[in-house]
Amino acid sequence: MNLVIALDLPSSAENLKLAESLAAYDDLWMKVGFRTYIRDGRNFLDTLKAINPHFKVFLDLKLYDIPNTMADAAAEIAELGVEMFNVHASAGERALRTVMERLVSYGEDRPLVLAVTALTSFSDEEFRRIYEKGIDEKAEQFARMSYDAGLDGVVCSAFESRAIKAATSSDFLTLSPGIRPFGEAAGDQQRVATLQSAAESQVDFAVVGRPVYRAEDPTEKVQKIREILKRL
Ligand code: C5P
Repeated sequence: MNLVIALDLPSSAENLKLAESLAAYDDLWMKVGFRTYIRDGRNFLDTLKAINPHFKVFLDLKLYDIPNTMADAAAEIAELGVEMFNVHASAGERALRTVMERLVSYGEDRPLVLAVTALTSFSDEEFRRIYEKGIDEKAEQFARMSYDAGLDGVVCSAFESRAIKAATSSDFLTLSPGIRPFGEAAGDQQRVATLQSAAESQVDFAVVGRPVYRAEDPTEKVQKIREILKRL
């Protein structure tokens, strides 16, 4: 299981300080979201790579638009040299296929593409008002569609990972936020999983934000997580 650190601190300086404190670890993924990318742009990504060229970057921009516009954006993301990004599955199968076709020219160097199935902030009722189906049913349908369109995986809760792999393939990647390595405070997350339960659910990428960046010593926390991951 890969460890993805969410760089969710309010300023570029704080995020870079966190990344610098983790510079000794060559196996980490860094999640860069809307706020940071909109404000700090490509420069931020270049600075991350300068801190440690082995850091892998997950650009969490959740693309959703018409197929051609999504594919154009995907090609620009590939040009940034990031290793993974995501799109909304609800943009539709044609959009997903168009994105993957546009990335073919990057060959083995193309970034991994994950689909967001259902945003976990939705209540079942809110979700039904838009999609006319329950979250679980629709999330699995979106996952199958993403798999058929040639995407590499989905963003899902650790609790859905196993069912999604059963419905698609064991190689279809799952990335799960809301991981609380040592049972730390859930914060605003509804369903949190430990590293152990994420591993049992065959999660490929565990996203950890607050338990690391709010730790007294983030470096020590990440070291402890890495030791557990080695044993799982
Ligand atoms: O601080 P915490 O570990 O809860 O951070 C989880 C990260 O994953 C945050 O960046 C949050 O926005 C993101 N995320 C999430 N739930 C989703 C999708 C993304 O928590 N369904």
